[in-house]
Amino acid sequence: MSLKISFQKDAPKTVLCVGVHENSPVVCDPSCGDQTVSDLITKAVANSTFKGKLSQSLSIFTPAGQRLILIGLGPKEDKKTDNREVYWQKIGSAISCVLSCIGCTEASVDIHGEGEEDSFVLPNMALGTLLRSWRFEKYFTKKQPDELFRLKQVTFQTATLEAVEKAFAPLAIVAEGVFLTRELVTEPANVVTPATLALTAMSLQKVGVTVEVLEEADMKKLGMGALLGVGQGSAHDSKVAIMRWEGGQKGEAPIAFVGKGVTFDTGGLSLKPSTSMEDMKDDMGGAGVVIGLMQTLALRKAKVNAVGVIAIVENMPSSTAQRPSDVVTSLSGQTIEVLNTDAEGRLILADALWYTQDRFKPKFMIDLATLTGAMIVALGKERAGLFATDDGLADKLLKAGEQVNELLWRFPLDDAYDKEINSTIADMKNIGSGRGAGSITAAKFLQRFVNNVPWAHLDIASVTLMDKDIPMAAKGATAFGVRLLNRFVADNYEGK
Ligand code: BES
Ligand code: MN
Ligand code: ZN
Repeated sequence: MSLKISFQKDAPKTVLCVGVHENSPVVCDPSCGDQTVSDLITKAVANSTFKGKLSQSLSIFTPAGQRLILIGLGPKEDKKTDNREVYWQKIGSAISCVLSCIGCTEASVDIHGEGEEDSFVLPNMALGTLLRSWRFEKYFTKKQPDELFRLKQVTFQTATLEAVEKAFAPLAIVAEGVFLTRELVTEPANVVTPATLALTAMSLQKVGVTVEVLEEADMKKLGMGALLGVGQGSAHDSKVAIMRWEGGQKGEAPIAFVGKGVTFDTGGLSLKPSTSMEDMKDDMGGAGVVIGLMQTLALRKAKVNAVGVIAIVENMPSSTAQRPSDVVTSLSGQTIEVLNTDAEGRLILADALWYTQDRFKPKFMIDLATLTGAMIVALGKERAGLFATDDGLADKLLKAGEQVNELLWRFPLDDAYDKEINSTIADMKNIGSGRGAGSITAAKFLQRFVNNVPWAHLDIASVTLMDKDIPMAAKGATAFGVRLLNRFVADNYEGK
């Protein structure tokens, strides 16, 4: 059962979270009690390692037996330099952590900003608590030891109920989108097969998204040889799912999102080593983000026309698999020498990008893909790579990333890198010639399938699956990109 967030004027206070600033005399919020409680907190701070640092926490009991959870708010000063949304989200995340750590099932929170409205502070805090509390538990057949104590309900105390609830509604919708994406990424590849991923896209029809699925026969007719080549070794048929949300002006060109949906990437005949091959269930992460984003736009009735196109294949070695050295003809007509069957993401995106620009004439295209391991070498797991042909588009994406704390770093697309992918027998080959710049040559490959439409590519290989907890997600799937792109759309393309 997932966490229920609510807001109330008078929340029950058996377990109460209160905020404590760093390096400032503790003054307890009047609603949490009297001078004795305030003194208690002062003593607790003096006698423990809890000093009110941002995201620190301490659980204490009042003489009356009430559990008080002190949440560090950091220093009082310095408000202007912070991203205040992220600041409050991190505090919400700290609340989730301490509550689940001490085994509380229910708590109320009485934390407010100084000079900041509850309708700004509380929705962000609640979002942080919600995102950080998400767990994937469906495959446990036995009760987990701590299951009885799983966090079920957090109530935030406020005097301005209506305004807070109104501001939280769109954030709760984004959280739903994030959870859908996390679920898809976390599910193993025997569950999220090409067919189930396409069905999930189809399920967005119930929220008003128009969805079509291209089957292999359709793709053959169209000439998607690059995409079909990748999927030909799998027992599962390849698909392309096309999702359309029409919330903008009738007839206005859409904005387009394209996702890599490799439900499992063994590498194909250029087989990956077994170490960490299991992580390749996340290779549909880009497609997962596009699905989560489209659901979010539809549920919050975004005033924009948007299309999401996801290329869905499984990359397997078998007697029908494509061989290193095969030459395929892409939808664009350009031929590709497949020198490494593990560089498959760019092959399926080549056809998906071409199809998208050709059919929809979008304002711009943004693709998301767990495209290269080299991204992790370059950026670690802190940021995702951004490549763009358009500075305005790049800046908007960088800014949206900073606003939601899903950070991007822009890489070059210099022409000099382009010759790396020239082939001796076809228009291009699917890997670079030389050493290094693996993420850039992959992006240059994609660029050969983009015409005059502004285009950005997000290589999310570094951030889709985390091996440790981060503020907005427990270890595992992050859904990096859903909040970023939702914000990017909301701030720039909804005619406000
Ligand atoms: N899906 C992988 C990239 C990847 C690797 C994502 C590790 C997340 C973690 C992609 O299809 C791939 O295999 N890329 C190759 C390209 C190479 C063969 C040119 C890579 O990065 O090794
Ligand atoms: Mn691969
Ligand atoms: Zn891959």
